[in-house]
Amino acid sequence: MAKLIFFLALLTLLVAAVSSTRDDGEDFTRTIDRKLLGLHKKEKLTHFKVYWHDILSGPNPSSMRIKLPVTNSTSYFGGATMFDNALTAKAEINSTLLGQAQGFYAGAAQKEFSFLVGMNFSFKTGKYNGSTITILGRNPVLSEVREMPIVGGSGLFRFARGYVEARTKFLNLKNGDAIVEYSCYVLHY
Ligand SMILES: *[C@@H]1O[C@H](CO)[C@@H](O)[C@H](O)[C@H]1NC(C)=O
Ligand SMILES: *[C@@H]1O[C@H](CO)[C@@H](O)[C@H](O)[C@H]1NC(C)=O
Ligand SMILES: *[C@@H]1O[C@H](CO)[C@@H](O)[C@H](O)[C@H]1NC(C)=O
Ligand SMILES: *[C@@H]1O[C@H](CO)[C@@H](O)[C@H](O)[C@H]1NC(C)=O
Repeated sequence: MAKLIFFLALLTLLVAAVSSTRDDGEDFTRTIDRKLLGLHKKEKLTHFKVYWHDILSGPNPSSMRIKLPVTNSTSYFGGATMFDNALTAKAEINSTLLGQAQGFYAGAAQKEFSFLVGMNFSFKTGKYNGSTITILGRNPVLSEVREMPIVGGSGLFRFARGYVEARTKFLNLKNGDAIVEYSCYVLHY
C-alpha cells in the first residue's frame, strides 16, 4: 500500500512537471519584482514648458497636410496633417532646440475646430536625450487652453502619465503657421 501511494505521488509530480513546461501558450507571463525596474522608488512629478513650432509655409515646412478635409467641411473634418516640429526652450524659433514633436493632427469634429492629436515629444538634449513622452488627445484648437493626456513614455520617462496644457502664442491666419506653448506635467520614476 505504501508503495502504491509513493508511486501515485511520484506520478502526480511527473504530470505536474510535464504540464508546467508544456508549450500551450497559456503560461507565457510571469510576475517579477518591481525593484528590477526601479519601480519601488517614489514617483516624481516633473514640470517643463516647451514651444512647438508648426511651420506650414516657406521652402522648408515642418508640417504638411497629408489628406484634404471632406468636401464642403468648414471645420477641417477628415483632414490630416503630419508634422516633425521643432520643440524649443523659448517661444523664439532660434532659442535652444530641445527636441522634436513628431505625429499628426486630424480634423475629428464636424461642427467645430477640434483635432485628434497623436504625437511623441522626442527629446535631444542633456540627460533627456533619447527619452520620449507620448501625447494622445482632443485639441479644440480655438480654445485658450487645451488639455491633453500624456499616455506613456520611454527612457527617463518610462511608465509616464500626466497631461499637457497647450496655449497658442502666435498664429498666422494667412498661412497657418503657429507657435504653441506646451506646459507639461509628467509623473514618472
Ligand atoms: C458642396 O457645396 C456645393 C455648393 O454649395 C454643392 O453644390 C455640393 O453639392 C456640396 N457637396 C456635398 C458633397 O455636399
Ligand atoms: C533670435 O532671433 C531674434 C530675431 O530674429 C534676434 O533678435 C535674437 O538675437 C536671436 N537670438 C539668438 C540667440 O540668436
Ligand atoms: C510614438 O512612439 C511610439 C513608440 O515609439 C510609437 O509606437 C508611436 O507610433 C509613435 N506615435 C506617433 C504619433 O508618432
Ligand atoms: C543624443 O544622442 C545621440 C544618439 O546617441 C547622439 O548622436 C547625440 O550626439 C546626442 N546629443 C546630445 C546633445 O547629447
